[in-house]
Amino acid sequence: MNNSNQWQQLHQSLASVIVGQDVLLERLLIGLLAGGHVLLEGAPGLAKTTAVKVLSQAVSLDFVRIQFTPDLMPSDITGSEVLDKDTGAMRFVPGPLFHQLTLADEINRAPPKVQSALLEAMAEGQVSVAGQTYPLDPLFFVVATQNPLEHSGTYPLPEAQMDRFMFHVRLDFPSEASELSILQKSRAGLLRSPKVEAVLSQEQLQAGRAAVDKIKIDVALQQYLVRLIAATRNPEQWDVHLAETVMVPASPRATLALAQAACARALIQRRDYATPEDVVSLLPDILRHRIHLSATARAMRLDVDAWVKRLLDVVPITI
Ligand SMILES: Nc1ncnc2c1ncn2[C@@H]1O[C@H](COP(=O)(O)OP(=O)(O)OP(=O)(O)O)[C@@H](O)[C@H]1O
Ligand SMILES: [Mg+2]
Repeated sequence: MNNSNQWQQLHQSLASVIVGQDVLLERLLIGLLAGGHVLLEGAPGLAKTTAVKVLSQAVSLDFVRIQFTPDLMPSDITGSEVLDKDTGAMRFVPGPLFHQLTLADEINRAPPKVQSALLEAMAEGQVSVAGQTYPLDPLFFVVATQNPLEHSGTYPLPEAQMDRFMFHVRLDFPSEASELSILQKSRAGLLRSPKVEAVLSQEQLQAGRAAVDKIKIDVALQQYLVRLIAATRNPEQWDVHLAETVMVPASPRATLALAQAACARALIQRRDYATPEDVVSLLPDILRHRIHLSATARAMRLDVDAWVKRLLDVVPITI
């Protein structure tokens, strides 16, 4: 397989700064390769910002960080028309979304209008200002963060728009051993303003994206994947106890995202075909923000992760 070593090199480059957090690093790489935006949720101080900054260095992408605040306006991110004093005509001044890698920090702190402007850009790869449409960079990639703890002053993201994210990744606190290693790196001055060499060019990234489309995903695996997503609409067909546990099921967009992500994961792992293991391991991050469980599920103490686990236990892999 061409390309595959580069991806492992890229992972190593990120891991030279970020200790542990393997799932985070893997999902960032898959999102980048598959062209799928990533939503990160985790307590403050878990290296979310650092990981995205280091990623932009390693892939030599033009990077911007937008801090989402309650007073942010849509034009602060899309850009706006201004009067050109010399010509007397209106001229478009592009906003931060015209960078390649956008870190949308604390996305749920901005009001719905701003979130919508971002999510429209994510879905369509373009922004519209004053009746004009401007295309974004072909490599346009958004990583958004939200803190779960800070409920006051936050606006929850609209369900329909959450679908624009390929993954919703939840970060855990590091192990004691990892934390010790973070401390030692910090004492050695390696975390102050971490820098990594660019290990991948933009052309190589584009070639990687094209290679994902060539990864094989056979019909039986496609059927398994569709069966899993469809089960969010009729879980009782697989387990009677799961009846009425899902209020909002997943859409075909979830199916497409899962297939694309499975193929990107295969490429990173130097395979030219996706496996059921790719699908199983990615399913929770694909569904976490897309399905909404009911009060019945809560009464059964099921969160999305536990629900997905039960589903995977009962839906057979027919390969
Ligand atoms: N796993 C880790 N590996 C390396 N450094 C880490 C790790 N976890 C935390 N740190 C360090 O902790 C500090 C905080 O990281 P960072 O600012 O990226 O957190 P964050 O998740 O973006 O926090 P917030 O949600 O408050 O913005 C940085 O100095 C970072 O290097
Ligand atoms: Mg941060």
